[in-house]
Amino acid sequence: MTTKPYLTGHYTPAVDEITATGLTVEGHLPPELNGRLVRNSHNPKPGVTPTHWFKGSGMVHGIRLRSGRAEWYRNRWVRTPALDGAPYMTEHGPDLTASVAGTHVIEHAGRLLALCEANFPFELDAELETVGAYDFDGKLRSAMTAHPKTDPVTGELHFFGSSPFPPYLLYYVADAKGRIVHSAEIPGATASLKHDFAITRHHVVFIEGSVTFDPAEHSGIPYGWSDAQPSRIGVMPRTADGATRIRWFDIEPGNMLHAANAYEDAQGRIVLEGPTVDREGFQLSWNWWVGAPGRGTEPNTRSYTRRWVVDLAQGRLDEQTIDDLAVEFPTLNEDYLGAENRYTYAISFPDQDGYGGYGVVKYDRATGARRVHQAGDARLPSEAVFVPAEGAANEDDGYLLTVISDLKQDASQLLVLDAAGLDRIATVHLPRRVTGGIHGSWIPDTADQ
Ligand SMILES: [Fe+2]
Repeated sequence: MTTKPYLTGHYTPAVDEITATGLTVEGHLPPELNGRLVRNSHNPKPGVTPTHWFKGSGMVHGIRLRSGRAEWYRNRWVRTPALDGAPYMTEHGPDLTASVAGTHVIEHAGRLLALCEANFPFELDAELETVGAYDFDGKLRSAMTAHPKTDPVTGELHFFGSSPFPPYLLYYVADAKGRIVHSAEIPGATASLKHDFAITRHHVVFIEGSVTFDPAEHSGIPYGWSDAQPSRIGVMPRTADGATRIRWFDIEPGNMLHAANAYEDAQGRIVLEGPTVDREGFQLSWNWWVGAPGRGTEPNTRSYTRRWVVDLAQGRLDEQTIDDLAVEFPTLNEDYLGAENRYTYAISFPDQDGYGGYGVVKYDRATGARRVHQAGDARLPSEAVFVPAEGAANEDDGYLLTVISDLKQDASQLLVLDAAGLDRIATVHLPRRVTGGIHGSWIPDTADQ
């Protein structure tokens, strides 16, 4: 049996949990970076071979920065029933606590939550120990997406829960204190796989691609591409009765894994951008995710940034692919989430022909300029998290934090890049190679920490 691609190379799981203090720093670590970078990834226990990359148990890696020092690194499995082998499907239906909790980690209302879209969140403490499943005091009635959105204006957390069975899509809003204050079933949704979505100041934007429930798929994640599944964008007003006013627009067949951002432009049109795969790209990626033959060289293949513009008044939609670099993990200065952003960041991967390479990419949407910080040979950067500078005057006044998996040195570093020019300003040497992985967040200190 060949080794699964998600158990080898950059993705070789860590075999233990460690804590290291007083990390070596090169360069100038900005003293204003006070907080924790926390990043999640799939990391099955030794001896466990999941049938799908996304079925691997979650492990969070954290790096604590304070006053120009790197105080600690630690990694911890998210201790869920699934880590000990509890099945997701039971005779009573899915067990939403049987989560690998390995996709993302966010903070809202003081709670650090490890997320996986098929399950309840799992709460972690400040030192990454697992507290337990969290269901918003019983108000979460479904799974929760791994990509909730914090509205920078209201502090609300917007999110959805999706299912291959009715109700296919539930939408929730939690207020800044973490209380669910609104939920609605979304009419017209289907069993299409919904990994991410977007909010604007006045709308919620749902995305349904041509990947949908497929009971014949036996990897443990029952989805697959279907030409019969239309790709669509649903635009819903952010009003109490918004669900009844949602409008769905057909788009070219594809699968957008992540939204870079969405906003209303000066004409009131909805603009949405995100890396998207076509049928071939999806199949190459899926085959990597399940370790099947015919897979891409990277977990994301043929993933190119696409833009959709929805004119609600005219009832029409335009779309185009806007870049030729294979990218994923789009990020931005989240103060601009839902508003027109000038800068988008992403991670580039070499494509099937070897074009491009591992790097941190910055797009200037005003000029169309693209700048790449090349990570170097066999050096895989993780999602670049933007942290605004203190007193920032410009959108790109701040830092990009990314963890490099360096295969040749069998080591990892946290890179702190100046987000304006993508220059490296500090390197934190980590005590182990950090498994290549998925999403993470910067958790800034609050007054009581
Ligand atoms: Fe994701």
